[in-house]
Amino acid sequence: MKVLYVCAELYPFLKTGGLADVSAGLPPALKEVGCEVRLLLPAYPAITKVARTLQSVAPLPQSPSPWGPPPALPPADLVLATLPDVDMAVYLLRAPTLYARPGSPYLGPDGRDWSDNALRFCALGWAAATLGQGLDPEWVPDVIHGHDWHVGLAPAYTRAFADAGCDTPATVFTIHNLAYQGLFPSTVFPQLGLPASFFSIAGLEYFGQLSFMKAALQYADRITTVSPSYAREILTTPHGFGLDGLLRERAPALSGILNGVDYQVWNPATDPLLPRNYDGDTLPGKAAAKHTLQTRFGLEPRADALVFGVVSRLTEQKGLHLLPQVMAELVQHGGQLAVLGQGDAVLEQAFAEAAMRYPQHVGVCIGYDETSAHTVLAGADVILVPSAFEPCGLTQLYGLRYGTLPLVRRVGGLADTVVDCALENLDAGTATGFVFEELSAQGLLRALQRAFALARRPQEWVAVQKHGMTLRFDWQTAARHYLALYRSLRPHASSFTGPYSGSSSDAHQPDFSV
Ligand code: ADP
Ligand code: GLC
Repeated sequence: MKVLYVCAELYPFLKTGGLADVSAGLPPALKEVGCEVRLLLPAYPAITKVARTLQSVAPLPQSPSPWGPPPALPPADLVLATLPDVDMAVYLLRAPTLYARPGSPYLGPDGRDWSDNALRFCALGWAAATLGQGLDPEWVPDVIHGHDWHVGLAPAYTRAFADAGCDTPATVFTIHNLAYQGLFPSTVFPQLGLPASFFSIAGLEYFGQLSFMKAALQYADRITTVSPSYAREILTTPHGFGLDGLLRERAPALSGILNGVDYQVWNPATDPLLPRNYDGDTLPGKAAAKHTLQTRFGLEPRADALVFGVVSRLTEQKGLHLLPQVMAELVQHGGQLAVLGQGDAVLEQAFAEAAMRYPQHVGVCIGYDETSAHTVLAGADVILVPSAFEPCGLTQLYGLRYGTLPLVRRVGGLADTVVDCALENLDAGTATGFVFEELSAQGLLRALQRAFALARRPQEWVAVQKHGMTLRFDWQTAARHYLALYRSLRPHASSFTGPYSGSSSDAHQPDFSV
């Protein structure tokens, strides 16, 4: 089963959130369960500076496709490369005018989307779809698996090839976050080189604009998202971001597969970023991480203070606007708060103000820093994830492994992975954290109070910690589910030849010269 895994981020080279962690964790697990996986990524500077090019593959086709003009792209080509510690071949899409920009994969230095993002990610979708048509005759995927709106056009082009009578790979599309949809003005449509009929309500047209996310939801053979609960939630208006109607239509093709954790990176017993390693049977070692955290975040270094941690993008999604509203109570109870994050200016400001108001109780680090993320996840007693919505969420899973109890809202992947410390769950030994329902300061406050209450019962606290630390959300389990999905689409994978494979005299044979 040849799987082309297409994404816009890859840990540790380029990361804005959990998408990068998934791109690092899932492909190796797919390999382990027997898939032949190759990655496809834009050649961002962060990637090219560490890549070792193996061979040039081909320029992106610029001759007409079977249905009309190709996308209006600048010269671009694909190379096969290797990346440090990535045990599989990687196609890099080189188009310097589109990708040779440092920093975020999506935003300019002014924090706004690059104005040519439609073309930048059109190129990625086109590269994936043409690889599916034999652009690299040596390796034609059976399945194209794309992630988030950045790859939304891959299923659309693939469908266009299929409509034109071409043999095509199956397409699987994973929604990591429905809130980001890749919306662009309709004037861009002619540049995308899609059949004119695709700009319709049954295609990628979305209230007069065009939506890369909708393209994927419309044309992918299967849609997955990153937890079972989120798969159900996005069928409803409050969580569907305007696409719930289409998702309900496509419900038979939709499923939720829970993300995993890369325990080579997130393991307190081996984590090189901790002052001292520890595990369930050496829990006192966690105290060293707490001390480091308190020192680094300017908190009073008190072993008995209950430390709440946040490692997060500071966006509305994460429900963190509730935190400043409960800060007074948190501090009154003797708690401390360490926030690592960046994002909305209003939230950054609110946390900065809280840190000034409650020195030694609230420490804030605005920015993105991998080492500090490990420090918070290991050193805090509780990791806070009070999200408004959460497709999966990874930090609560990291918290579990580090003996840092997650305090989460019962939504999406958080609902699927954290068991509340209700008495019956404590009794049954299944409790792993604190779960609240209502997205309000009151809801959050009650959960905080439960955390303080459990902290007064240290034996029970340790039992909950230890139980959480034994749980494993491994990528192999997720990979087996994905493999079953691929197999249902391509039960006889491997006998594929496409019109672009070089051996065929098909009329649609492209001209590879640029
Ligand atoms: P999302 O993808 O919605 O941001 P996830 O919980 O899935 O949320 O993943 C977030 C990832 O980004 C985790 O690996 C987390 O450690 C990391 N992260 C978030 N904010 C920061 C930050 N400020 N510094 C370092 N790592 C961060
Ligand atoms: C998105 C979601 C997050 C999920 C991550 C990886 O960024 O917001 O919940 O864990 O993708 O799938």
